[in-house]
Amino acid sequence: MTEVTSVRPSSIKNAAVNLPYGGGKGGIRIDPRKYSQGELERVTRRYTTEIGLIIGPEKDIPAPDVNTGPQTMAWMMDTYSMNVGRTATGVVTGKPVSLGGSLGRADATGRGVFVTGAEAMKKLGMPLEGARIAVQGFGNVGEAAARIFHQHGAKIVAIQDVTGTIHSAAGIDPGKALAHLRQTGKITGLEGSEEMQKDDFWSVDCDVLIPAALEKQITLQNADKIRARLVVEGANGPTIPAADDLLAQKGVTVVPDVLANAGGVSVSYFEWVQDFSSFFWTEDEINERLDRIMREAFQSLWDVKEQHGVTLRTAVYIVACTRVLEARACAGCIRKSTREKGRFLDGAALFVGCWGAFRTFDRKRHPPPLFARPSPIKVKGQRQNRSFCQML
Ligand SMILES: NC(=O)c1ccc[n+]([C@@H]2O[C@H](COP(=O)([O-])OP(=O)(O)OC[C@H]3O[C@@H](n4cnc5c(N)ncnc54)[C@H](O)[C@@H]3O)[C@@H](O)[C@H]2O)c1
Repeated sequence: MTEVTSVRPSSIKNAAVNLPYGGGKGGIRIDPRKYSQGELERVTRRYTTEIGLIIGPEKDIPAPDVNTGPQTMAWMMDTYSMNVGRTATGVVTGKPVSLGGSLGRADATGRGVFVTGAEAMKKLGMPLEGARIAVQGFGNVGEAAARIFHQHGAKIVAIQDVTGTIHSAAGIDPGKALAHLRQTGKITGLEGSEEMQKDDFWSVDCDVLIPAALEKQITLQNADKIRARLVVEGANGPTIPAADDLLAQKGVTVVPDVLANAGGVSVSYFEWVQDFSSFFWTEDEINERLDRIMREAFQSLWDVKEQHGVTLRTAVYIVACTRVLEARACAGCIRKSTREKGRFLDGAALFVGCWGAFRTFDRKRHPPPLFARPSPIKVKGQRQNRSFCQML
């Protein structure tokens, strides 16, 4: 059992959609395909006991991610509850509905990908009806995103998962693809689609590309081949920074992961709130609230993007860090001078302020390491400094 080493900017994601959560990640590094259900259950229960001291409904609340799902969260909740001697539904989210889970959680991340993608399409003047979508990853996020886009008239022209890649210019029905995957264990061989080479996925003729599998998928090797006008990042960190710059140069709009896939954590938050009050909302109420959160978050980022001439990725960090700064300033956690600097949205002051807030460093006495220092900030239409995003 090894702790997962990578920590993601989940705080930024939560701040971007205004949720009162922080961020962090942990897990077990195993390939679940090689284990039986019984073994997975024992591993999960042991892991939950090991981390039992640091999690809790008012401390840290795990939620599912790659290769985990409602069953895993049910085992976690049950184990934690046994250990503390009471039913603690709020200790994890993404549980089955029968154990205090929320309606709408299963589709929430994919739904958020759809809502933010559709909002971006509106801004770019791209019609949803008939839009050609390519999806990498056909799991919790990718399948739901593909299905919801399909339900709204878009055409899924390519799907790639760990078992292969399929393409159909006429469009793939995600429902049939899922049934085929369940029946045969692979995505390839679906009637009406042809199999493609793995690397050819990136050059598929499409309008929207949704990487919804793993991190670091869009690289300098394939970014140049991408023909989509819009990339909606369903996965966490699917685009390496250099490829992100290349996409920006090519005029491709990227809806960044911390916004695009925030639907999952939003409904996790709803689940936690419902568990506390033991009062459960209908699926329509959940979806309506989720859609509103995602649409409003998208609009506020778009406004900042337009106002400062930055990419949506930089905009999301500006918005989220300003919120975090604001909260930390109110709590008295940052010095006044830093706090005032943090109020400026238009340049180095923000970056200095954010550095101060996150690291509580006195920049003069303890300058940040060279790699993390922002290079001169350039405005409108020029390449944006990325060191800020990378240092978080
Ligand atoms: N599940 C959530 O609520 C949620 C929320 C936010 C972000 N995410 C992120 O979304 C991404 C997908 O998560 P998920 O929950 O859908 O996981 P999942 O395990 O349900 O699905 C992962 C999918 O990726 C495919 N895949 C794996 N390796 C691949 C490869 N090398 N090439 C192509 N496809 C490959 C798998 O076949 C599967 O279809 C991850 O980056 C995750 O961190 C998930």
